[in-house]
Amino acid sequence: MKRDDTSCGTAGHRCDTAQAARPAVADGPPPVVFDLDRVCVRLGSVLALRDVCLRLHRGERVALVGANGSGKSTLLRLLHGLLEPTSGRIVRDAPARQAMLFQRPYMLRTSARNNVALGLWLAGMRWAEAQRRAAQALERVGLRDVATRNARTLSGGQQQRLALARAWASNPDVLLLDEPTASLDPRAQRDVESLVVQFATGADAPSGDAAVTLVFASHNLGQVKRLATRVLYLEQGRVLADLPVQAFFEGPLLRQRYPAAHFFVKGELNGRLPPRER
Ligand SMILES: Nc1ncnc2c1ncn2[C@@H]1O[C@H](COP(=O)(O)OP(=O)(O)O)[C@@H](O)[C@H]1O
Ligand SMILES: [Mg+2]
Repeated sequence: MKRDDTSCGTAGHRCDTAQAARPAVADGPPPVVFDLDRVCVRLGSVLALRDVCLRLHRGERVALVGANGSGKSTLLRLLHGLLEPTSGRIVRDAPARQAMLFQRPYMLRTSARNNVALGLWLAGMRWAEAQRRAAQALERVGLRDVATRNARTLSGGQQQRLALARAWASNPDVLLLDEPTASLDPRAQRDVESLVVQFATGADAPSGDAAVTLVFASHNLGQVKRLATRVLYLEQGRVLADLPVQAFFEGPLLRQRYPAAHFFVKGELNGRLPPRER
């Protein structure tokens, strides 16, 4: 796709944070976890993100939607610190613990339990405690029976649950998910999704903490409706729409203010979802 690279970091462009879909709460918005100011990310010759202005608040569940190549993975990797802006600025909430899940989780060639425990041990936990915590995390995601199996022999759904266990055990404040159910069958999709819901709403955080901040990319608009509180639509590296989930899917706002996003959603809903979800 041909791109107009000259438009990034355009002089005079300003972030209009008033436009952002702020969560409505009585005593002001919750603390900002990520603050992006005109961020551009160049990958090789491609501008994967352009002039992104964005504030994400603690406890939000933010869905990233858009066609392949629109910049969803790049934005997630930027938030996780795997990429830095080429221009612009990102400010992260200082001591936030973050975990990220990918479409295909990376598994070490060892038992499921060690896959969780090793991460905790590397982060400084004593081995015995890491093993205990890992067993608890596996129990939590329904993998107790396969704790001693080589993680690489597990099914795709089990591996993704194991990746969630790994994330859960590290007790993150921010959870980033890049199409975590895209390569799973419908049953495994439901299992992983319901674990994400419990995780994201803080129902069972090991420390009893409040909800985590969730940012996830998904092509499954049913899943977006079920999980998100806020939806961002990306196209060619730009955030073209930013709305609370209800306004994104219902009412005239999307069509009136964000026609490109409206056509994307219409196309996806007609082409992808089973009739009961349209
Ligand atoms: N490592 C890379 N090198 C060069 N271009 C890349 C790289 N990774 C992604 N891109 C390009 O950046 C753009 C955004 O990609 P990506 O963030 O993966 O989109 P999405 O996750 O929405 O499919 C695409 O045009 C893609 O081809
Ligand atoms: Mg992607």
